[in-house]
Amino acid sequence: MSIESDLYLIKDFDKKYCMQVFSPLDVAFVKGKGCYLYDTEGKKYLDMIGGIAVNSVGHGHPKLVKAISEQAKNLIHCSNYYLIPSRSELAYNLCKKASFADKVFFSNSGAEANEAAIKLARGYFYYKGMDRYEIITAKMSFHGRTMGTISATGQPRFSKPFEPVVPGFKYVEFNDIEDLANAVTDKTAAIMLELIQGESGVHPAAPDYIVAVRKLCNERGILFIDDEIQTGMGRTGKNFCYEHYGVYPDIMTLAKGLAGGVPIGATLCSDEVASGFHVGDHGSTFGGNPLATTAANTVIEIMDQEQLTANAGLVGDELMDKLQALKAKFPMIHQVRGRGLLIGIEFNPMISAAMMKDVLFERGFLVSAIGASTIRIAPPLIITKKEALSFANELEKILKSQAKNMR
Ligand SMILES: Cc1ncc(COP(=O)(O)O)c(C=O)c1O
Repeated sequence: MSIESDLYLIKDFDKKYCMQVFSPLDVAFVKGKGCYLYDTEGKKYLDMIGGIAVNSVGHGHPKLVKAISEQAKNLIHCSNYYLIPSRSELAYNLCKKASFADKVFFSNSGAEANEAAIKLARGYFYYKGMDRYEIITAKMSFHGRTMGTISATGQPRFSKPFEPVVPGFKYVEFNDIEDLANAVTDKTAAIMLELIQGESGVHPAAPDYIVAVRKLCNERGILFIDDEIQTGMGRTGKNFCYEHYGVYPDIMTLAKGLAGGVPIGATLCSDEVASGFHVGDHGSTFGGNPLATTAANTVIEIMDQEQLTANAGLVGDELMDKLQALKAKFPMIHQVRGRGLLIGIEFNPMISAAMMKDVLFERGFLVSAIGASTIRIAPPLIITKKEALSFANELEKILKSQAKNMR
């Protein structure tokens, strides 16, 4: 049975048989090409959200499709009991790209990458014979949906129904070094941050804050965990967002764009920090499997060949300029924030982000609404200036008609 073109049945089965934790729009996409998605009716949409910062090389990239198909023919999965060529190659590729890192652990999602980071930080001090386990994170952060990562996430709305949370987490104001310094104790193992808080509205960390965090970590012997699940792999115009700040983390987590849509997570660290895991301390059945790691190696190759990190920086800057110009013109826009191709557009309270997302959707543009008043864009890194500006022009048209209605 294929229900691919029957939107009614797709919706009906979703309601009846899927746990209702999402609230999907009334649309099902059945095909993607480049930066565009096509629904069951054949309508075309410009994908300005890219599977939430996942489809880094766009939809249906021929090289990625070919690599995945060939790998599937040869070997989809085999256990981590054995050596896996593409896993070894990906570990090498990532350590080469993130020069601070010597070792990688592979998993299947962002939450799992962060779970590994949390365990690694605690294990690191355990094996040193030190009683340090506290992890400090930022208020309004987002680190995932597992018990460990909702405990790390500094937004109680994600953990409330599932309390008690995992002990040993503390939350401080983002971008406030004094609050952070005051929270550090002789039990502190790590400080874990997103350099751009993505899920809470695309709020970048201030440059002097991150420099001060690194200094504090050095002075107090604390590990700095950099959650680059949303910002990593070229999205901000550098391989990793920390490069904008001129400091290195001790542990970095990746997922989302790493394999262009094939599930993967990665936790990177130095040789010294990798001493926090001994044989048997951590693992994953699927993590690092031949299919996912081949996809990630191919994404890295495509990104290098097509200079997609540079493209993210260039197109992101153009788009940011245009959006800032819209902000200057329309008081309905409160703020435009972000870096590269991760941008949040916050509207004034009288404009609902959900309404804006729906209007854009009707007009063939996909964005996500985060919170009451912000829409987020995180398109594929292959997006052209023309495509990005077509989004900004559509937004301008909507704002114009809204302004007229408000008069
Ligand atoms: C910064 C950050 N960390 C962790 C996660 C969790 O990733 P996943 O949904 O793949 O578990 C996300 C997901 O949005 C994220 O943005």
